[in-house]
Amino acid sequence: MVAFNPQTSHPNDKPGDPGYEQNLAAFEARIACGDKVEPGDWMPSDYRQQLIRLIHVHANSEICGALPEGTWIPHAPSLKRKLALVAKVQDEVGHAQLLYRAAETLGKPREEMIQELIDGKAKYSNVFHYPAETWADVCVIAWLIDAAAIVNQRMMQEGSYGPYGRALKRICYEEAFHLTHGYDMCISPGDGHEVSAGLAARRGEPLVEADHDVPRSVGQGIEAHRAAHEVGHQAQDKRRTAAGISAEVCAEDAQSRHQAAAGMGHAD
Ligand SMILES: [Fe+2]
Ligand SMILES: [Fe+2]
Repeated sequence: MVAFNPQTSHPNDKPGDPGYEQNLAAFEARIACGDKVEPGDWMPSDYRQQLIRLIHVHANSEICGALPEGTWIPHAPSLKRKLALVAKVQDEVGHAQLLYRAAETLGKPREEMIQELIDGKAKYSNVFHYPAETWADVCVIAWLIDAAAIVNQRMMQEGSYGPYGRALKRICYEEAFHLTHGYDMCISPGDGHEVSAGLAARRGEPLVEADHDVPRSVGQGIEAHRAAHEVGHQAQDKRRTAAGISAEVCAEDAQSRHQAAAGMGHAD
């Protein structure tokens, strides 16, 4: 764990401080060149604070996303599904660990961040306020909410703060597994559970909830993360991309299943 170190905060990092404007100009020039900002580097106080806020909310969301899925582990319809769900929940909590660590490099202690979450002072993604009432919800969460997460996180991993970008890169590999796991559950008979019936009963509601994981505005936190291409990315485009990624995965999967079936047929 990285303990809080007042040295992570540099002098003259606020508007009006001596030398602030020169430091800011050099800082912005670095970012414009695609340079990554590292923990010991000079950075404006606003940049630091907004990054802490952004990464903290993201870390909390990983924890709060794992909770409703975790409650379904004992009720998974088969051992195969249970093992996959245990792995997914473990991944999500691991994502939180990586992100809290990235936020700690900016000077906020992990204990403080966890305590703020427990006290209800810290926010998390609003999509996780919805309950997972049926096994079908678990399937759709893994498929569509994780697809939306990949869209956000792929964009953010190109941002200017090195530790956050590197954590997101690793997280995205695992989110891709979650998406295919969710898709597989949605198209499978359900191992004895009525997934299809559950999906029909929900009448598309989870689709609306998954859409809530795509932010409506880029917000101050993202602004602080400052990567030029992030700024022009509109929420509507991201929703279309989420649907596109899901469709891509489905198409690839359908093709590989078709090829596997064709191969088996040929062998027979
Ligand atoms: Fe995650
Ligand atoms: Fe995930």
